[in-house]
Amino acid sequence: MPPFYVTTPIYYVNDAPHVGHAYTTVNADALARWHRLCGDEVFFLTGTDEHGAKVAEAATEHGVSPQEWADTVVQRFLGAWRDLEISNDDFIRTTEPRHHHAVQAFLQRVHDNGYIRLDTYRGLYCVSCEDYYTLEQLVEGKCPVHGRPVVEMEEENYFFELSKFEDRLLRWYEEHPEAVRPATKRNEALSFVKGGLKDISITRTSMRWGVPVPWDERHVFYVWYDALVNYLTAIGYGEDEPTWRHWWPAVHHLIGKEIIRFHCVWWPAMCMAAGVEPPAHVFVHGWLLVGGQKLSKTLVRQHAQLAAAGGSGSDGAAGSDPEATGASAPAHPVRLTEIAPQSLTEDFGVDATRYHLLRDVPLGTDGDFSYEGLVSRYNADLANNLGNLVARVATVVGTKCGGIGPAPDPNSALGAVAREVLSDATGAWARFAPHEALEATWRLIGAANASLEAAEPWKAEPGPSVDAVLGDALEVLRLVSLLVSPAMPSTAAEIWRRIGLDGAPQDRRVPADARWGGYPGGVPVVKGDPLFPRRKA
Ligand code: ME8
Ligand code: MG
Repeated sequence: MPPFYVTTPIYYVNDAPHVGHAYTTVNADALARWHRLCGDEVFFLTGTDEHGAKVAEAATEHGVSPQEWADTVVQRFLGAWRDLEISNDDFIRTTEPRHHHAVQAFLQRVHDNGYIRLDTYRGLYCVSCEDYYTLEQLVEGKCPVHGRPVVEMEEENYFFELSKFEDRLLRWYEEHPEAVRPATKRNEALSFVKGGLKDISITRTSMRWGVPVPWDERHVFYVWYDALVNYLTAIGYGEDEPTWRHWWPAVHHLIGKEIIRFHCVWWPAMCMAAGVEPPAHVFVHGWLLVGGQKLSKTLVRQHAQLAAAGGSGSDGAAGSDPEATGASAPAHPVRLTEIAPQSLTEDFGVDATRYHLLRDVPLGTDGDFSYEGLVSRYNADLANNLGNLVARVATVVGTKCGGIGPAPDPNSALGAVAREVLSDATGAWARFAPHEALEATWRLIGAANASLEAAEPWKAEPGPSVDAVLGDALEVLRLVSLLVSPAMPSTAAEIWRRIGLDGAPQDRRVPADARWGGYPGGVPVVKGDPLFPRRKA
């Protein structure tokens, strides 16, 4: 097996993390956890993008230096990921010396290989996108993504000769049909290349907040040219050859759809220019959208903030429910910074928040994010199905088996369901479809609940047939703990503990430990508080 190196985009520190950032990060985390469970060698990277005009502007607005601003905001990201139990192996900040070294080494190679030239650039620039637009791309004279005015810029810049890579990129796409997924996004990236590639301005003299260009210190690199290299910095590019070659190019970049051109056109070309193999896999997901649905009180304030901040960097996260922005709009103008993933974890708990982000919006398509959606998913899947199964099994083992869990039947019909579910879940994780992996797992939970309802052990006399049905249910809970551990690590560990097993599901291996019949029986089963108390809608 090649190692599994998974990355999120590095997020801008102009503002604090919001639910959209949490969506990507939780999905990457679950993938990393699944692969660790499978015994793969995993390296999971996230971090922050701290250079560029957007961050410098935010710092100026707050009357501090860009470095001070980055140092403050990065804490919000670190805190959010700690709260959400994100298991990243490294956290990269682009202001770190290791990153400056890697960027300079990488781009010096591109320069030495003859793909960089000096020229004058004139263009219309959107600071929020950190990108140039042509007149035709503007919508009513404004940035098509942010609706903000663009600024005219003229600079002497170094250019990366992207145009020289058209054929090589086309060949790369042809030879690597799975490099960009899903297929719709691959086609989109491919059509950018087929549409013709222009050289890109990759340095700035109009600002100083960036990585200095090693061959001309009057310039700093354009923020995207520094940012993309982070994926190599973290594995030791320019410093530790065997290590970065160990992890590269078996990388999986998980990104949102608005940055496809950077990751699927520019980045592979940059790699080719530096003599590095392009990334093995970019998985492009859609946007979480807020709006179109009425939100409850709890989220109304945040919703209003989203709408209010619609033009300032939310990249598709902006919603526009008139009801929410009207009567309930807060007295003070609010910024996107205040919509913290923490507001969800405090309200629903960490695991329910993670579950919602993984289960409700499939990677690859856009999806609505709503309070109603969260509550109904929570009640249906977590309170009624999983929570109920855990509670009733523990209760009936208490009353009918003296609190000692019986062993499962090796030939139980549930064993066949479990085998199919394991195989479906494994396939789904491999396809970057956590929602399907969880959907499959809930089939097993549903089957166990159904078999209990058919047998009604709570009404029966203690004896072998009661033991058999409860042993099977306990075995299902053991398997479910393993299967949900990438999504809900704390819940998985708690179920494991309650059914009397040692250690934690995270220490086990799939598929070896996920075969039907592993529950030993003869161990104490404990009841506890409801894992997921039912919520009012
Ligand atoms: O683009 N739905 O940083 P960024 C789903 N620094 N995902 C969302 C989302 C939404 N509504 N909003 C944000 C940058 N995201 C660059 C990246 S990488 C070398 C440099 C997630 O702070 C999604 O992953 O704007 C998206 O691509 C990313 O946050 C953008 O974060
Ligand atoms: Mg953005």
